[in-house]
Amino acid sequence: MGHLPAGRQLGLFPGSQHEPTSQVTSPILHAEPAEPPSPDPADQQGATGKPELLNALADSARDCRACSLRAGCRSVVFGEGDPCARLVLVGEGPGQVEDELARPFVGPAGQLLDRILAAADFRRQDVFITNVVMCRPPGNRVPLPGEVAACRPWLDRKLAIIRPRIIVCLGALAIQTLIETGLPVGRARGRWFERDDSFVLATYHPAAILRDPGKRRPVWEDFCRVRSRYLESTAR
Ligand code: URA
Repeated sequence: MGHLPAGRQLGLFPGSQHEPTSQVTSPILHAEPAEPPSPDPADQQGATGKPELLNALADSARDCRACSLRAGCRSVVFGEGDPCARLVLVGEGPGQVEDELARPFVGPAGQLLDRILAAADFRRQDVFITNVVMCRPPGNRVPLPGEVAACRPWLDRKLAIIRPRIIVCLGALAIQTLIETGLPVGRARGRWFERDDSFVLATYHPAAILRDPGKRRPVWEDFCRVRSRYLESTAR
């Protein structure tokens, strides 16, 4: 836990001996998969590298009408960051500020995420940040199973293009969508799972930390795990 003192110095993660007891369960465990949107930009001629493939996918995503969320939001928040990132972070869905700016994690939870990343020695531009759903649910409610299923092919394609070494799931919806552990996030967090070529770790969503500062310490410990594995993966 080499970075724990740094996080403490930053005042981000004051020591807390409490493991959180409140747990969030996912409504999407039994969602039916959606038909992938078409055409598949990965098949398009001229799209050869990860940046081109991801740009083509983002262009297609702007036209997606696979669920009703698009009708009620301003932006399709595709995600942003390094197309060749070794670390991808997956949240739940855009909030109000994200919808206005068409960028992921730029509201209050995003500002906290930026501080967590910086404390763990990651630059935001070196990772890729996205969400389970790309369109803001009304009133910031949790996306419904059908909405998650409709957006799932986009998330799968992003990950298939980027092929990150590590995926961090921010909150219950992300881990249940990608791994389907059946565990509440309080029990799934801090453990490594495998998905294709990626190691996957869940931690609490930054918005959950804003509601419950007792979650700071476990989140910090999780990001220390991520940092260690990231360094291992770059050393090879
Ligand atoms: N919460 C999320 O899950 N994603 C965002 O982009 C912003 C807030």
